[in-house]
Amino acid sequence: MNGTKERSILFSPLKVGTAEIPNRFVRSATHEFLAGKDGRMTERHRDLYRALAEGGVGLIITGHAYVNRAGIASPGQTAADDDRLIELFRPVPEAVHGTPSKIFLQIAHAGRQTKERLTGGVPLAPSAVPDPVSKVTPREMTEGEIHGLVRDFIQAARRAAAAGFDGVQIHAAHGYLLSGFLSPHTNRRTDAWGGSTENRARVVVEILAGIRAELGRKFPVIMKINASDFLPSGLEPEEAIAVARRLEPLGLDGVEVSGGMAEAGRGSVWPGLRTEDEEGYFVGDAVRFKAALKIPVFGLGGIRTFRVMERFVQEGRVDFISLSRPLVREPDLVRRFRLGQAERSACLSCNKCFNPRGLSCGDLRKRPSP
Ligand SMILES: Cc1cc2nc3c(=O)[nH]c(=O)nc-3n(C[C@H](O)[C@H](O)[C@H](O)COP(=O)(O)O)c2cc1C
Repeated sequence: MNGTKERSILFSPLKVGTAEIPNRFVRSATHEFLAGKDGRMTERHRDLYRALAEGGVGLIITGHAYVNRAGIASPGQTAADDDRLIELFRPVPEAVHGTPSKIFLQIAHAGRQTKERLTGGVPLAPSAVPDPVSKVTPREMTEGEIHGLVRDFIQAARRAAAAGFDGVQIHAAHGYLLSGFLSPHTNRRTDAWGGSTENRARVVVEILAGIRAELGRKFPVIMKINASDFLPSGLEPEEAIAVARRLEPLGLDGVEVSGGMAEAGRGSVWPGLRTEDEEGYFVGDAVRFKAALKIPVFGLGGIRTFRVMERFVQEGRVDFISLSRPLVREPDLVRRFRLGQAERSACLSCNKCFNPRGLSCGDLRKRPSP
């Protein structure tokens, strides 16, 4: 082993808005499949997030929490749609706050990437563009419903703040509803919410402005956004960067660059092991955001090796390294990096962590217990 990595740039702090993040490691949002009745967080969430914080990751972003019932994506998902949830959230940030780590709630709406049996109605989208994967033909949202959506995101952020979360991440990636508004492929509207880049970005602009009006400038708000949908008529980096540039002066505190839509047959969670040169499959896009913005940029996509992470930050390509699957397998990976006990994640990117019975490493589940 190579000894302590304490002095690496990866262990230097950086602010996201007003939140001091003790190092450059981020747990990227990861659906937990652990919610109880009505989407409430449980002791299993508390234990998961305590373990991640004790494992040293500087910023934890929770799995996506739906802002209203029509926006649920899958069973076991956390809700952020009711004030009664605030008390039930509270133990989670409390468990993290015994450590230097910070925790943001990811707030989301699934749009058309869901099922009617979950939402209790025809799934909603900016336009009625059928989804060949979910086999859903969504219903076009009315203007009134769009205003309601904006309010629901603002209220979800207010609940996160009241519960003690250190910030929120607005999920505007992966073909979910806000990503659907940004994408020219799924947004065919001809009113103020579709057409030009400005119009397609209106919903995220109103959400951010509304959160700022409700919570002030100090509460950290970041966004996860697709650089590319991987669809011929989808969102492309140049436009996605223009959206981020529009949001920056309105008080966006950071941007995590992702990509893909279910419909494209190429999502955000690419399976399989890659060489060191291929790690960071969305970092190339993130670099372009970094060049255009002053706020911190989070890079992700199959990043597994410490020296690759260090190079990404050292060379100024990104400010933070976001990891999802590696921290399912080894919640204490960052601590082990720091102590020189690991050089790379043992994650196989097999994607068997998508476990409806609760987030867990499929490769470890397969092994007989000692
Ligand atoms: C089990 C699982 C659940 C996920 N849930 C979410 C989620 O709730 N919100 C989100 O934005 N991304 C989600 N992702 C995507 C990750 O945040 C991340 O962008 C992606 O897995 C690539 O990073 P990785 O190679 O380090 O895993 C999920 C990924 C996995 C494996």
